[in-house]
Amino acid sequence: MRLVPRLAVLVTGLAVFVPLLGTASALSAQTAPQPQRPAVFAQCAACHSVQPGKHLFGPSLAGVGGRRAGSLPGYAYSPALKSAGLTWNAATLDRWLTAPKKLVPGTAMPFAGIPDRARRKEVVDYLLTLK
Ligand code: HEC
Repeated sequence: MRLVPRLAVLVTGLAVFVPLLGTASALSAQTAPQPQRPAVFAQCAACHSVQPGKHLFGPSLAGVGGRRAGSLPGYAYSPALKSAGLTWNAATLDRWLTAPKKLVPGTAMPFAGIPDRARRKEVVDYLLTLK
């Protein structure tokens, strides 16, 4: 059969090429400017801006780290979020993004949550860099 040697060439080629790709993306991850907006954040961006004072369907996420939940002026929060008594930090944001309605029953944020812990951490790390 001719096919077998050809496959062998293909597999060898991939074995060389794929690690090269890996190295290239590792390098670009090191040199890329921080903060990086994680891909998952595209979901959030449908409802949230990261510009100060710019509210969309959801409140602006600028400066969210260290802020009391439901405290931005000019946004009509649900009574549930306003009275939740939460301050946004790595721990509370992680719980919020796991299951918003579980952390704050009655919240108006129609978002089921990010089940994957690593994806969630990417978003939380990014949120905490927003000024
Ligand atoms: C479908 C629209 C929608 C999506 C998608 C969404 N949100 Fe929200 N978000 C809202 C709304 C509406 C509120 C206000 C909730 C309330 O008043 O109870 C909110 C509130 C918040 C708050 C509290 C802000 C404050 O000032 O207290 C944070 C933090 C937040 N969202 C983060 C996120 C992140 C991160 C994502 C993506 C993983 C996301 N949201 C996805 C609509 C959305």
